[in-house]
Amino acid sequence: MNERSALVTGASSGIGLAVAGALRREGFAVTMVARDPAKLAAAARHVTEGAGPPVQQLAGSLTEEAFLDEAVAFHSATHGALDILVNNAGVSGHRLVGDITADFLDHQLAVNIRAVVLLTDKALPLLKAAVRQRGCAQVVNTASNAGKRGEATLSSYSATKAAVVGFTEALHDELAPSGIKATAICPGLVDTPMADGYRDEIAASTMITPSDVAEVVAMTTRLSAACIIPEVVLLRPTEWLQPDEVRAGLG
Ligand SMILES: NC(=O)c1ccc[n+]([C@@H]2O[C@H](COP(=O)([O-])OP(=O)(O)OC[C@H]3O[C@@H](n4cnc5c(N)ncnc54)[C@H](OP(=O)(O)O)[C@@H]3O)[C@@H](O)[C@H]2O)c1
Repeated sequence: MNERSALVTGASSGIGLAVAGALRREGFAVTMVARDPAKLAAAARHVTEGAGPPVQQLAGSLTEEAFLDEAVAFHSATHGALDILVNNAGVSGHRLVGDITADFLDHQLAVNIRAVVLLTDKALPLLKAAVRQRGCAQVVNTASNAGKRGEATLSSYSATKAAVVGFTEALHDELAPSGIKATAICPGLVDTPMADGYRDEIAASTMITPSDVAEVVAMTTRLSAACIIPEVVLLRPTEWLQPDEVRAGLG
């Protein structure tokens, strides 16, 4: 089993779908994971178009710990190792502070951070097997620009994404010396179904594309074992890490 392999969560739509395709073009056999089986099957057919390494799919909810175990076992049964884990699945939702319910918060925490931590934990033996076979392995976590600078109406989402950034930094600190690289991807607004709530105000043509994000993930796989990119922030021209009042002062 010398073929490099990837496991991508949230692979049925948007960024994850683009990442799955880009990694296959990069030469990785891909395991695609998402919740809705029909949507995932259609996505897998799309990714499998054209010659390339095999693609397999597993549908289930990342909120269920047993499904996380199943996903690792499913990938292991075919590949025995994992070269790149892409923790990409995520859920969003706008609410003002004062309207946040436990159910709303718990679902975001379960998908956006609990599953990311637990799946990485459970996949560690497979990542270590890839290091033994090929010298390095990677974990790429899709965070968000909202995890770098919290956004109004997205407070709980921003908090989960800041947690993804913190988890990725800790992974780097703990695992980089053993050959496992960790990267947090922090995009601004990307043209996926998650951006639907913005479409009245923001033209799709001005949004970051899923392919932009996938290109960055693919690029991280082409670097030497000695080079790690711990974090990538992708912004639209009108997005910025500094508050407007600081920018106004600069003008
Ligand atoms: N779009 C943006 O503007 C933007 C910006 C920054 C960061 N992000 C982050 O990028 C990542 C991908 O988002 P996207 O924009 O590509 O969104 P998307 O098109 O809505 O895709 C979300 C993916 O996550 C899967 N998913 C959601 N809940 C799941 C669960 N419980 N179990 C398994 N899979 C689940 C979905 O599968 P099902 O449909 O089957 O549930 C789908 O494949 C997310 O982490 C998001 O927070 C997005």
